[in-house]
Amino acid sequence: MRNLNEETITQAVLARNADMTDRRLKTVMTSLIQHLHAFAREVRLTEEEWAAGIQFLTDVGHTCNPSRQEFILLSDTLGLSTLVTAQNHRKPQGCTEATVFGPFYVDDAPDYALGADVGNGMAGEPCYVSGNVRSITGEAVPGAKLEVWQADAEGFYDVQKAGRTSAQGRGTLHADASGHYHFKTIVAECYPIPHDGPVGRMLEAMGRHPWRPAHLHFMISAPGYETLVTHVFRDGDTYLDSDTVFGVRSSLVADWVRHDSGTAPDGTRSDNPFYTLDFDFVLNPAQPATANQ
Ligand code: BEZ
Ligand code: FE
Repeated sequence: MRNLNEETITQAVLARNADMTDRRLKTVMTSLIQHLHAFAREVRLTEEEWAAGIQFLTDVGHTCNPSRQEFILLSDTLGLSTLVTAQNHRKPQGCTEATVFGPFYVDDAPDYALGADVGNGMAGEPCYVSGNVRSITGEAVPGAKLEVWQADAEGFYDVQKAGRTSAQGRGTLHADASGHYHFKTIVAECYPIPHDGPVGRMLEAMGRHPWRPAHLHFMISAPGYETLVTHVFRDGDTYLDSDTVFGVRSSLVADWVRHDSGTAPDGTRSDNPFYTLDFDFVLNPAQPATANQ
C-alpha cells in the first residue's frame, strides 16, 4: 500500500489488521483507530497539537510511580472511568450503585475486628460507621468482606505520605452472621485529587477545579454476589454536584450525623464532638460472564 492520503489512510490501517485472530482485540482496535482518525479529521488536528498531545501523554506516564497513578486520574477526570463503571455494573433497582474505584486502594490493608478503629491514629474528628449488608431480596449477607479506605482531614490517603510505617484510614472487616458491620474512623472531608502534575495542568487549562466531595470508599465482596466498589458521600458537601471525577450518585449520599458530646456507639463517653454514619449496602447476585462484542 502506497500513496496513502487523508481519504484512504483509515481503511489502509484497518486492512493491515485483517489477520488479527483475537476477535475482541480486533473489535477494540478497529473502533479505536476509526475514532482516533475521526477525531483528528473533525478538529483538523495540527502538527503542534499532535506533538503537544504526545508530550502530555509522555508527562502523564512519567508522573506515574507506585503511589501515583496519573493515567487513572486522566481517565477519571475525562469521565471515562464513570462510563466504564456504569456500563459494566447495570443492576436491578434497589441494589447499591457502584462508582469509580480511584487510585488509592491497596489490596493488603490490615484486617480488623468489628468495632475497631480503622483510622489508626489518622488526624480528624471521630466517626462511627455502621450498617448492614443485604441481598436484593432482603436476606443478610453473613460474613461479607468490607474493605474501606479514606483520606485524612487534610485530604491525603496514607499511601500518599512519604515515610509512613503503618496503614491509616484503611482496613478490611467482615460483617457478622446477620450481615451487620460497624467500625470507628474519622470524618471524611472534601479534598482535591493530586493536581500538581499534567492532569492538574489539564484541569486548570480547561477551567475546572480538582475537588472531590467528602466520601468513604468501600469494596464489598461475598461468594455468590457481584463485588461492589462504591463510596458513601457526605450530604451537604460543596462539591456534590461538581465532583471532578463525576462519581456522585444521589443514592450514595448519606447523613453524617454530628453529636456535640455524649455516649458514643462504642459505649465510651465523649465530651468532644463525634459523628455517626449509618449506611446499608444491597448486593447484586453474581452475574454470568458475558463476552462484549
Ligand atoms: C478517590 O476518591 O480516591 C479518587 C478517585 C479518583 C481520582 C482520584 C482520587
Ligand atoms: Fe477518595
